[in-house]
Amino acid sequence: MVDWKNPPRLFIPGPVKVNDDVLQQLARPTLAHRGKEYAQLHSETVDMLKKILFTEQNVFLSTSSASGIWEAAIRNCVAPDETVLCTMCGAFSDKWAAVAKSCGRKVEELKVDWGKPILPEMLDEKLAAGKYAAVTLVHNETSTGLTNPVREISEMMKEKYPDVLVFVDSVSGMVGLPMHFDELGWDVAFASVQKAFAIPPGFAVAVVSDRAIEKSKNIPGRGYYFNFELWAKSAEKSQTLVTPSVQHIMALNYQCKKILAEGIENVWDRHKQMGDFVRSWAKEKFALFCDEKYASNTLTAVKNTRSINVAETISAVQQKHNTIFGNGYGKLKEQTFRIAHMGDITLDDLKELLGWLDEENG
Ligand SMILES: Cc1ncc(COP(=O)(O)O)c(C=O)c1O
Repeated sequence: MVDWKNPPRLFIPGPVKVNDDVLQQLARPTLAHRGKEYAQLHSETVDMLKKILFTEQNVFLSTSSASGIWEAAIRNCVAPDETVLCTMCGAFSDKWAAVAKSCGRKVEELKVDWGKPILPEMLDEKLAAGKYAAVTLVHNETSTGLTNPVREISEMMKEKYPDVLVFVDSVSGMVGLPMHFDELGWDVAFASVQKAFAIPPGFAVAVVSDRAIEKSKNIPGRGYYFNFELWAKSAEKSQTLVTPSVQHIMALNYQCKKILAEGIENVWDRHKQMGDFVRSWAKEKFALFCDEKYASNTLTAVKNTRSINVAETISAVQQKHNTIFGNGYGKLKEQTFRIAHMGDITLDDLKELLGWLDEENG
């Protein structure tokens, strides 16, 4: 049984630790979702997100996890006879390609080994040789702890392939890593809130370009729940299409205020400091799973160079300190382990965790 007075401390790469003041937002009385007070909460939250994500385009609040937006991007913006180029460099980017196929779209794969980045020249070569409606990119591969060079990729695409839509999964990137949506020419970018927003799971934020919404109007079979055109119509009234999780929006509003008070650039710097700290420990005691140039500032995948028993270490740290960190993802289980350093996790939290790991493994 969980001891609710002393719940487990989470260092898995999502859901991450949620502070008590944020949790309290989820216990506030609800609002009528078609009422004036809700509309104020909605529009204030969207306005703050626009500042945080550097966009003047459409920010949507979705009562779903982020996987819903994987599907939404494909179903709204890629016609059944068009092809989407899916870049694949880990479990989540691989899954997005599978989702695109499951939506009945034609998929071309650009695949690299897990732990390697997608580079602009790889995409350039592929895009030059075929005709694609859109590209899918993962900003931060949570399975490998890798940040793709999305700025360089976006600059290349803006210059050479301006008509190809750019869809970016920033689930474990948004807020923790720089994102300038409009400047980079992106069309859809999204995250669920259980990562760097440090809110309990069950909600997602999506940014959608005007041109993506325009294009969606002519795509058949978009469905209802994730329909961008309908979302945009509701957003004009500062509402969502369906009854939203109002309390998640209260928590999001609260976190956005804190982010803006700190300054988004400072938030990114804080994540970098935590990333540097965990990386220097990992390099001293083990090794990094991916090339340091692409190592993420929101989580670290540590290469298990000493062949420790990761599952046993996780279980020992859980028993002794009521704290959980992540094993490697999927086929990387035991070969790697993952430590989150995003959201409201602090350097002091990380010092404590790494101290315990040292106690377990010397
Ligand atoms: C990079 C990435 N994309 C997508 C997802 C799926 O997000 P959700 O579980 O919120 O649907 C995750 C979940 O961890 C993720 O890390």
